[in-house]
Amino acid sequence: MKKLIPFAIVFFLIFIITAAFAQTKGVKKKSPPRHEYGNVVINNSSTKNKIAPVVYNHWLHRAKYTCRLCHVDIGFEMKAGGTGITEKDNKNGLYCGACHNGKEAFAPEEKTPNNEVKKNCDRCHSYGKAVAFEKDFYQFTKDFPAGRFGNGIDWLKAEEKGLVKLKDHIAGISIKRNVLRDPQDIYIKARKVGMPDIIFSHKKHSVWNGCEMCHPDIFGIKRGATKYSMQDIFAGKYCGACHGKVSFPLLDCQRCHTKGVK
Ligand code: HEC
Ligand code: HEC
Ligand code: HEC
Ligand code: HEC
Ligand code: HEC
Ligand code: HEC
Repeated sequence: MKKLIPFAIVFFLIFIITAAFAQTKGVKKKSPPRHEYGNVVINNSSTKNKIAPVVYNHWLHRAKYTCRLCHVDIGFEMKAGGTGITEKDNKNGLYCGACHNGKEAFAPEEKTPNNEVKKNCDRCHSYGKAVAFEKDFYQFTKDFPAGRFGNGIDWLKAEEKGLVKLKDHIAGISIKRNVLRDPQDIYIKARKVGMPDIIFSHKKHSVWNGCEMCHPDIFGIKRGATKYSMQDIFAGKYCGACHGKVSFPLLDCQRCHTKGVK
């Protein structure tokens, strides 16, 4: 048994270094430009039906709504293509159609003042097309506080400063909820000598995620009951369910591993 331990450590270090290096290299090469971080291509049925796949952007929507509203109340899966949205669902006021109905946001088809029909299909079905969008990322976010990775935006500060105002309710879909108090910060030990520990802030997370984004599906509410490692996080589980896809990337080690080694 004892002999195995050094092997495990060597293996682990190789894993971490490759993972971190792969990500570092990605910044120069593969990692998407700021305006594409968090974009999701949805293509269960588009190509099959001879229309361009859908490109959904998080940067614009997360500047207006909480994650909780969409992923809990409206019911989008946190997985590209996972929801199985159809155009019929949208017309019936579900999924994208919960907002893209001509009231909360633009509808698939709109009447212009002189009674012509304007089709907005391309604005969603935009993959591989040159579409003139109404909102430009760089213009829209030019006053937002800078972050190091991902969208290059510190979203927490943007919210704290009131630059983004998050709606957490859509009439007819959201139900009234009791607001639960945020538990205290949680100190998570990084089980590795020399790696700074992590402080998890409930307060900072619940602004965007409420409680239901994490409990009980991602984390149990009994302290320490959920066992996971950095490897699981790199694999997109636990903290990695959001970080690395929509929230700031895992490359930003120090933003989680903040607590100095004693
Ligand atoms: C607010 C965004 C949005 C708009 C606007 C929109 N769609 Fe879609 N549409 C979707 C999404 C999301 C899907 C699911 C895509 C997938 O899985 O491939 C979809 C699927 C489809 C499909 C695939 C088959 C089906 O019935 O689900 C067709 C065809 C389609 N849309 C046609 C249109 C047409 C035509 C318009 C314009 C009149 C339009 N869409 C406007 C979001 C939109
Ligand atoms: C306006 C609605 C909306 C908001 C707000 C929203 N999301 Fe999403 N999210 C979606 C949709 C739509 C998808 C794609 C689902 C599908 O394809 O079936 C998605 C997918 C995801 C995925 C999977 C991405 C992938 O590449 O597989 C993650 C992770 C995610 N969201 C996290 C978040 C987080 C964290 C927030 C808040 C910071 C957030 N979302 C805010 C609608 C939203
Ligand atoms: C919670 C409400 C909400 C949901 C759900 C939602 N959107 Fe939006 N969306 C908005 C608002 C608000 C805007 C910006 C205002 C506008 O353009 O009408 C917007 C803008 C967009 C834009 C930008 C278009 C442009 O020209 O700049 C795209 C693309 C888009 N949404 C696609 C989608 C798709 C695809 C879905 C479903 C997968 C979806 N949205 C679900 C509220 C929503
Ligand atoms: C982004 C994910 C996330 C969100 C959102 C979240 N939690 Fe947690 N919660 C955690 C994690 C991680 C732990 C620690 C679990 C562990 O130690 O295994 C935890 C632990 C807890 C615990 C046990 C705390 C202790 O000290 O024993 C309670 C109670 C709890 N959460 C309640 C809530 C409530 C109430 C909300 C909404 C206001 C909420 N959580 C929102 C991730 C989250
Ligand atoms: C359900 C999605 C989700 C999960 C799961 C999640 N986070 Fe976050 N986290 C967010 C969002 C949203 C933000 C806001 C900033 C952003 O999106 O980049 C955030 C911000 C943070 C911040 C920034 C705090 C600051 O002061 O700058 C830290 C640190 C953090 N998360 C650590 C964690 C850790 C550690 C875990 C796992 C125990 C975790 N998160 C799990 C969504 C999530
Ligand atoms: C989103 C937050 C977050 C980010 C970003 C992050 N970590 Fe972690 N890390 C954690 C959490 C939470 C744990 C605690 C898991 C445990 O050991 O119980 C952890 C644990 C670890 C451990 C201890 C051993 C293990 O596997 O659990 C190492 C080593 C580690 N991280 C390295 C890194 C490196 C290197 C980076 C940057 C490439 C990084 N982490 C980025 C949250 C994060």
